[in-house]
Amino acid sequence: MTAYPLLFSPTEIGGVPVRNRVAHASILTRFVRDGQATDELVNYHASRAAGGTGLIVTEPVAMVSTNRDAGRLRAYDGGGRESLVRLAEAVEAHDCRLLGQVQDPGRGRHEVGRNDAAIGVSPLPDDLSWTVPHALTAGDIHRLIEEWATACARLKAAGWSGVELSAGHGHLFHQFLSPWANARDDDYGGDIEGRTRFVRELIAAIRAECGRPFIIGAKLPGDDGVAGSIDLTGAREIAARLGTDGELDYWTFVWGAHANSLWTHLPNAHGARAPYLEAIHSLRSAAPDIPTGAIGYITDPNEAEHALQDGTAELVFLGRPLITDPAWPAKAESGREAEIRYCVSCNTCWRSIIDGHRLECDNNPRVAMADEADWRPAPAARKRRVAVVGSGIAGLEAAWVAAARGHDVTLFSESDEVGGKTRLHAELPGGENLSSIYDYQLLAGKRHGVIYELGVPGSVDNVAALNPDAVLLATGADMRPPDFLPAEYVDEGLVPDLRALMQSLLGRSRQEEGRILLLDRDHTEMTYAAAERLSELFEHVTLVTPRERIAADCSLINRQEIYQRLHDRRVQILTCCEPLDADGLEDGVIQAINVYNGDATPIEDVIAITYATARVPRDALRAPLEARGMEVHTIGDCHAPRSVLAATRQGYRVANGL
Ligand SMILES: Cc1cc2nc3c(=O)[nH]c(=O)nc-3n(C[C@H](O)[C@H](O)[C@H](O)COP(=O)(O)O)c2cc1C
Repeated sequence: MTAYPLLFSPTEIGGVPVRNRVAHASILTRFVRDGQATDELVNYHASRAAGGTGLIVTEPVAMVSTNRDAGRLRAYDGGGRESLVRLAEAVEAHDCRLLGQVQDPGRGRHEVGRNDAAIGVSPLPDDLSWTVPHALTAGDIHRLIEEWATACARLKAAGWSGVELSAGHGHLFHQFLSPWANARDDDYGGDIEGRTRFVRELIAAIRAECGRPFIIGAKLPGDDGVAGSIDLTGAREIAARLGTDGELDYWTFVWGAHANSLWTHLPNAHGARAPYLEAIHSLRSAAPDIPTGAIGYITDPNEAEHALQDGTAELVFLGRPLITDPAWPAKAESGREAEIRYCVSCNTCWRSIIDGHRLECDNNPRVAMADEADWRPAPAARKRRVAVVGSGIAGLEAAWVAAARGHDVTLFSESDEVGGKTRLHAELPGGENLSSIYDYQLLAGKRHGVIYELGVPGSVDNVAALNPDAVLLATGADMRPPDFLPAEYVDEGLVPDLRALMQSLLGRSRQEEGRILLLDRDHTEMTYAAAERLSELFEHVTLVTPRERIAADCSLINRQEIYQRLHDRRVQILTCCEPLDADGLEDGVIQAINVYNGDATPIEDVIAITYATARVPRDALRAPLEARGMEVHTIGDCHAPRSVLAATRQGYRVANGL
């Protein structure tokens, strides 16, 4: 008996049996090469199917002559058939339905710079890249629809259960639906009849080619956040028109467009949990009989069950949560919720694929490896005594993996709480989910017998007393004071680094009069979470960076949201400059010097300065431990100050190699 009876009840979508209501939302993986599925792609989807997902929508498939992207599975002709069959067999063997995504980005492009090959609805610019596409003629549209339908039939012949049209997120089909992007005066533009015609004809053509049973689903726009485009009223009108033809087997609704609102398609802990369910519930009433998919920042099985119980949806689409844990469904169904590695909505996954890299996850160092679902580390050939020094996420990851392999593991932590700098980040605005990373690691370590010596520093004597076969040094890193600060300011704590400052302000709510100046030579997420909190605690906040923009080490969507939040809070952002010196702190005026021309801008009312800078590894223990003949591995920031992703991955790898 499961605690989530509806979530794990079978259903039928378009006449196709689906074993439960957990669906994998389409995720671009970058695991396709030369149009063929790599082993990684097959592992990735087979693991999610093995982990209990009922239905998987793949990333967009290459289907038409205008988009033969070798990074997409090849279905525009028969050259990819073997690979399509291989993927379908690997997924469907686990009683999981495989659907291919039908999508073209149209004029949409995330990168700065034009896409010279873009096709589109009208010769109007994309709001992010300012790409102006070649506007499709009616003849182009007819030809493409035929090609898409033929390619869908190829998927069917290869054993796939259906397709999903991606008509949200600002892509081509969305562009046809939107009055902001669609300025046509032919049959494919104008009123709701015209703007929905392309999508309706496409659905009809796919149905005519593929017949039934063959699932045809659609991701449709909810509120896309662009003035003059599609709001909830427009979304309902579109849904009502598309719903009347009776050919859609499910639909779901997504937020954002290729504009400043792009970030809204990946909601996170800065806002409400599962924020779109109420709107999705209302949109489904446009055609209540079409099975509806709940989607958007649903990470917890209770939230998923609730969305089904209250009539919002018949399916629950999970994007990021299934990247983090492919066995999310199996663990939830069997009451092992505490063993789920939860998505922390950091969007590192999105950043990795948009930057052109393979899909990666801060809280899952094994994405797309074989046997990823419910993975257990293999027993070590020789049991060893391992000391881990430091309880940040690199040390915690290494400790549980090493213990699960059968080693005797003792972890020393100077702090009596685990989590290191991630714990501090978890206390800042939007950081709350990050606690899932170290909570999971701690629980897993306890299950496998790690001895946690919390509040006990990993001094040379304490470590040596264990007589360890290996020491994993995970002691983190410290921010390097900027050159303009006199040493005494740093030594006397007059100007603390951002982490020390935020730690000292935890629990504070009173607002100080005056301005705090934050030098940003960091550009990672935590700095802006701290800036947001500072804007509650100081009358004014000025963020100064020598770079031409802030948040350069964040994904485009996280950066958009950071700008939105900081502008909403009236945080002053000064780019291309740095403080000249700290001399003005006494009379409250600091000069910001332009790094290109040296011009000075006075920043007034300054009562405090802090800084977020590149870090220095805290690895002083290494030499004395090695001098005593111990095998020492530095991991995490102590090895080299990097990201959460690098820390979990290195902790896992080093422990897995012991
Ligand atoms: C890494 C990544 C890649 C994505 N790729 C696609 C895609 O190719 N097609 C698509 O329709 N949506 C894509 N999405 C959006 C997801 O399908 C989904 O709508 C979104 O992640 C919200 O669901 P979640 O909150 O459960 O993650 C992607 C999202 C992420 C995080």
